[in-house]
Amino acid sequence: MQDYHDILAEILIDEKTLQARIRELGAQISADYTDGNLLLICVLRGGVPFLVDLSRHITSPHTMDFMAVSSYGVGRRESSGSVRVTLDLQTDIRGKDVLLVEDIVDSGNTIASVLELLQVRQPKSLKVCALLDKAERREANVPIHYRGFSIPNKFVFGYGLDLDEYYRNLPFVGVVDLEKYKPPSC
Ligand code: IMP
Ligand code: MG
Repeated sequence: MQDYHDILAEILIDEKTLQARIRELGAQISADYTDGNLLLICVLRGGVPFLVDLSRHITSPHTMDFMAVSSYGVGRRESSGSVRVTLDLQTDIRGKDVLLVEDIVDSGNTIASVLELLQVRQPKSLKVCALLDKAERREANVPIHYRGFSIPNKFVFGYGLDLDEYYRNLPFVGVVDLEKYKPPSC
């Protein structure tokens, strides 16, 4: 896999700007959830760095849990929704104040399906915190209650966002130079 320098067109959001905004979001969430009933749910894997940093800035008591989903391929759609749970929560969310923590809302299809399947489990409340919002690409109408940054319609990587599973570790969000990127051969 290429070194990130070789495929970085530009740094869109640098580490300092990211962390400052995450601190603000943490303060806002701390003020909004005060009764210790908050459960942060992270959809693996892109949301992990954001969840970890955000959680450290939430001063009210809270718990966290993780889930993973995969999209149904063409012809495998079921009426229950367009994603399949590949790793389920360990927590019963009934009666909890659930905050879904996501790296990016792009078409919105993933998060719309996840919200649908969580709602059935009867949480007390269900809200969305997304670090990045690529609104131009939206297909599904999803509410974003806490938004880190609105970004243009460019393919980005770093800070949880991957290119073929790599580069999630980078501390900034960068734009990919797609002419220089060589995907690993399969
Ligand atoms: P959706 O289109 O909103 O369903 O987004 C699905 C997933 O696509 C996100 O959770 C990300 O993992 C991924 N994704 C969307 N845009 C980007 C991007 O610019 N870079 C890397 N991953 C992305
Ligand atoms: Mg991804």
